[in-house]
Amino acid sequence: MVDPLGDVKKTVVYKVNPLRPERSVIQAAAKVIRMGGIVAFPTETVYGLGANALDPEAVKKVYEVKRRPADNPTIVHVADKMEARRLAAEIPEKGYELMERFWPGPLTLVLKKSEIVPSITVAGLDTVAVRMPNHRVALMLIEEAGVPVAAPSANLAGKPSPTLAEHVIRDLDGRIDMVLDGGPTEIGVESTVLDLTTPQPTVLRPGGVTLEELRRVLGEVQLHPAATAREEINLETARSPGMKHKHYAPNAEMILVEGERRDRVKERIRELVEEYMGKGLKVGVLVAGEWEPNVGHEIKVLGPEEDLKTIAKNLFKALRELDEKKVDVIIAGEVTATGLGVAVMNRLRKASGHRILKV
Ligand code: TXA
Ligand code: MG
Repeated sequence: MVDPLGDVKKTVVYKVNPLRPERSVIQAAAKVIRMGGIVAFPTETVYGLGANALDPEAVKKVYEVKRRPADNPTIVHVADKMEARRLAAEIPEKGYELMERFWPGPLTLVLKKSEIVPSITVAGLDTVAVRMPNHRVALMLIEEAGVPVAAPSANLAGKPSPTLAEHVIRDLDGRIDMVLDGGPTEIGVESTVLDLTTPQPTVLRPGGVTLEELRRVLGEVQLHPAATAREEINLETARSPGMKHKHYAPNAEMILVEGERRDRVKERIRELVEEYMGKGLKVGVLVAGEWEPNVGHEIKVLGPEEDLKTIAKNLFKALRELDEKKVDVIIAGEVTATGLGVAVMNRLRKASGHRILKV
C-alpha cells in the first residue's frame, strides 16, 4: 500500500457506497485522519475537508491547503450527540432540544467551547461550531477515526462549495491525502449555522435547516443581518468571521436581478443579456422556472420555480459549470426566498459580490 502521508503528495481517490460504505475504505481514510492527514468526504450538504479537530498541526494544514484566512473558524463534526458535550463548555436546554430534533442533519450549533478544542480550530474564538452530519460515510469516518473532525467545505477559499468529488479534485488535487467519492450530495447548500451564545438564538448562516423549521422548535429566532446577505457587511459587526470573506465567487462577473414581480425580473434579465452580448461578451444565465433554451450563450435552469430543493441541489454545480464554459458575465435571477430559498438567495447574493439590481 502507498503511504498516504508520504513525501510526494498523491491524492488518493476512493469510490465509496454512500448508503453502505465499504468498511475497508473508511478504515483507510480514518487512519489518514488519525495520522494528522487530510481527507475530503461527502456529507448531506456539501463535501467537507476533514482533519483531526484536536490536532492543531492537522487543522493548520486544512487552512493552508484551501488557502483559508486564519480568522475563519471550522465546523467540528461529531458522530454522536454526546460528543458535543466534550467540545462545549456548556449546552443550553435549547441546544439539547435542537440536537434531538435536527441531528444528524444540516444544523450547526455555536456553543461556548471547552478546554479540549485547540485555538486554531476555532480561529481564536471562545466558541465552537458543532454539527452531526446526516451521511453514512461521514458518520462512519468520524466514528472510525475516534476523534471529532474539523471540516470546512472542501473547496479553495472563495470558490463555490463542492457537491461532487470532481469539484474537490479540481480545486485540491495534489494538496490533500484522500478523497472519498460518495457521489453527489443531497442538499447542495451548507448547514444552517445557529449561534446559541447570544441572548436570542441567532442564525449566522441560513442553510439546510430552514428558519420555519427552527421557529417551530424555538419560537423566536433572530436572523443576523449578514445571513440574508442583503448588503455588504460591516467588518466590525461580523459575528461569524466567515461573513466578511469573499464567497462562492465564480470567475465571471455576476449580476443578480431581484424584484417582487417575476415578469419584470425576467424582462430585465433579457435586457441585460442583450446588452452584454451586444458588447461582445460571453453571457451565462442562472435562473429558475420556465425559460427558452436560447437566452444568452449558456443557460442554467436550476429547477422549477417552486422546487427549492432541486434549486438548492443544483446551485453550486451550475456556478462551476458556467465557469468551465468561460463565460465573462453571469446574469442571475432571484428565487423564492422562503424555506431553502433563504439559503439559496444568500449564496447568490454573495456570489454576485453584492452586484444586485432591483426592479
Ligand atoms: O454543511 C456544512 O456546514 C459544511 C459541511 C462540510 O459540513 N461545512 C461548511 O464549513 O460549510 P465552512 O467552513 O465552509 O463554513 C463554516 C461556517 C463559516 O461561515 C464560519 O465562519 C462559521 O461556520 N463558523 C465556524 N465556527 C464558528 C464560530 N465558532 N462562531 C461563529 N461562526 C462560526
Ligand atoms: Mg465554505
